[in-house]
Amino acid sequence: MSTTLEPPVTAQPGTTRAVGRPVPRVDGPAKVKGQAQFAAEVPVEGLTYATIVSSTIARGRLTSIDVSTAKTAPGVVYVMTHENAPKLEPPVVMMTQPRAAGASDLPIMQDESIHWNGEAIAVVLAETQEQADYAASLVRTTYEAERAALAFDDEKINARPPESILGEPTVVEVGGDVETALRDAAVTVDRIYWTPRYNHCAIELHAATVVWDGDALTVHDATQMLGGTQWTLAEIFGIDEANVRILSPFVGGGFGGKGLWSHQILAIAAARESGRPVRIVLSREGVFRLIGGRTTTEQRVALGANADGTLAALIHTGHAAMTPHNNCPEQFTFPARHLYAASALRVAQDVIDIDMIANTFMRAPGESVGTFALESAVDELAEKLALDPIELRRRLEPDVDPASSLPFSSRHLVEAYRRGAQAFGWERRSAEPRSQRDGEWLIGHGVATATYPYFRMPGGSAQVVISADGRAVVRMASHEMGMGTATAQAQFAADHLGLPLDRVRFEYGDTDLPPGTIAGGSSQSASIIAAVIASSAALVEQLLVLAGPKSPLAGLLTSDVELRDGGVYATGDRTRGEGYRAILERGRRDDVSAEVPAPDPAEMKRFSMHSYGAQFAEVRVNGVTGEVRVARFLGSFDIGRILNPKTAASQLRGGIIMGLGLALTEETLFDERTGRIMNPSLAEYHVPVHLDVPQIDVIWTDIPDPIAPGGVHGIGEIGITGVGAAVANAVYNATGKRIYDLPITLDKLL
Ligand code: MOS
Repeated sequence: MSTTLEPPVTAQPGTTRAVGRPVPRVDGPAKVKGQAQFAAEVPVEGLTYATIVSSTIARGRLTSIDVSTAKTAPGVVYVMTHENAPKLEPPVVMMTQPRAAGASDLPIMQDESIHWNGEAIAVVLAETQEQADYAASLVRTTYEAERAALAFDDEKINARPPESILGEPTVVEVGGDVETALRDAAVTVDRIYWTPRYNHCAIELHAATVVWDGDALTVHDATQMLGGTQWTLAEIFGIDEANVRILSPFVGGGFGGKGLWSHQILAIAAARESGRPVRIVLSREGVFRLIGGRTTTEQRVALGANADGTLAALIHTGHAAMTPHNNCPEQFTFPARHLYAASALRVAQDVIDIDMIANTFMRAPGESVGTFALESAVDELAEKLALDPIELRRRLEPDVDPASSLPFSSRHLVEAYRRGAQAFGWERRSAEPRSQRDGEWLIGHGVATATYPYFRMPGGSAQVVISADGRAVVRMASHEMGMGTATAQAQFAADHLGLPLDRVRFEYGDTDLPPGTIAGGSSQSASIIAAVIASSAALVEQLLVLAGPKSPLAGLLTSDVELRDGGVYATGDRTRGEGYRAILERGRRDDVSAEVPAPDPAEMKRFSMHSYGAQFAEVRVNGVTGEVRVARFLGSFDIGRILNPKTAASQLRGGIIMGLGLALTEETLFDERTGRIMNPSLAEYHVPVHLDVPQIDVIWTDIPDPIAPGGVHGIGEIGITGVGAAVANAVYNATGKRIYDLPITLDKLL
């Protein structure tokens, strides 16, 4: 075992700056005391409890649905099926309109047609959850099944290019005929990789508490897309958006799955029809049936190298399962677009339509499974070239973005490898497979690159308020899913406004606040910071006006001053200026407030902006049983400036742990004959538990990105990327067996 590395504390010693300090989470005490109210815990008078009945065929139609027994069961308040459901507009699907949050554009319970095995066909409301569950078990159905598209291999002939991959082209070709370059290359690797379905398993089950008051709708939701949920619900129910309020102060894990699905919409419809408030909490099985996850991919990576290890050809192509009703093609070719220099590059990806619950974003969608393929291939190439895999990556380092030719805003991948190798003790690794043994355990070491794009979302604005008592509040409809948003953003605002951290509060989690952006795509941190910077600049203008001609600030322009030491001061001259209290008193104001929309994220068009990392794994593989144990793990990251090393380390470790699940234990078993998910429980879908998780060390360069607001990148997703390949490469080093399909279960190693 390695020694435990403390995450670096990045603030200058002796300063009072908040950024860079390992500040404990502001929401921590409320959570450990049980005072934090999650969506399923908000007390409401006269509540009813909802249970959803799911279809058991993948495609076809309901020929009958008999709810007569269910309706007369004890405590039942209301039963809704397509026969009595109100008319609802289909949800507008994510990324087709700026504020759309629908996971799928399929109509919800509007007719007898069935689109996936597990689709909601009835909702039962009762006085207690147990009564609703029991009554739901009494609903009787008959179906007429139609042929469904279920088998990935069979449907491949119908593969289609999606309109775009998150706005990027589906095909990128640079530098001429890549297949010829591959054929002529001195050393080649050309492999097919396969990754399974994975399901969202956040600790908090999907839940909502729904209250109608006349035309006004309040939803206490567990969501990572407040504004999008508000807008999309208004469209579905044909009501004014001003009448829809979403509150989500605490979310027990999101990872991309806490969006707008059918359960909230059905609960809202049932609440309106029954005239009673509704609480819906999906069962764990319900999450598997009604919430999509990561989808199947089949990927080809082909690398053609020159004798010196540079690349003549890089090909990354393949298919992902999707539905025609959603918009998440699993961007597994994104890493290959940006990571390595190659004379010829081709990336292309198609989708295969499957009759299944709409897949969705799940922590580094695309990059998590894309790096498994790409980084496994790079490892195999290094071996063929007899090069250390880190040295090979150093030789492949590009000067500009390989796909777009844009300059990198900030890229220190080689440095992340250097630091990681040193901390992990990479030089002690044996390159020879099957050469390290401890009794019946084979020991191996592997490394892989982590990468995730920098995103910043448009449309956010933060209200920044400074009051005469020297306190500040930042208000924005942002999200705290346990990752530390409220803490880290208070830290940023404290430094930016020149106030001590205990004087600054971040208000979030409510659509009545100024508009936030999604907590997704690792974009929220930079999106909030850009908004705070914009509003703070407007605040400075107001403060200078309020200060007036008698102030020491008189005659100074906004460009001449900085916010520091609880006030406004001439830049670099702490003798000229005054505190907020003095300025506000002279201006006879209790407070001063500004809310200016964040500028559009133009930096993303001018620069190639990404986070990077190097993932190091040590595994032990039992030579008798094939059991794989991760013995230790280290992630070394280049992720911009770190706001809070404590919450950052947790995000990165959490991502790595989810990556261990992706590599070794997790797999949604989808019966290709029936479209039924066969392991819809945590007993059968194996997320890593404590005994599966070794010591995980995380370190980072802490080099601010000069182009990103505040120098900051979001870090929610990069942690999972590269983990699958680091583990697979270590398994190869231990056993001499390369595994091309995840998860790496023991049967594949025997
Ligand atoms: Mo992330 S998959 O955008 O929560």
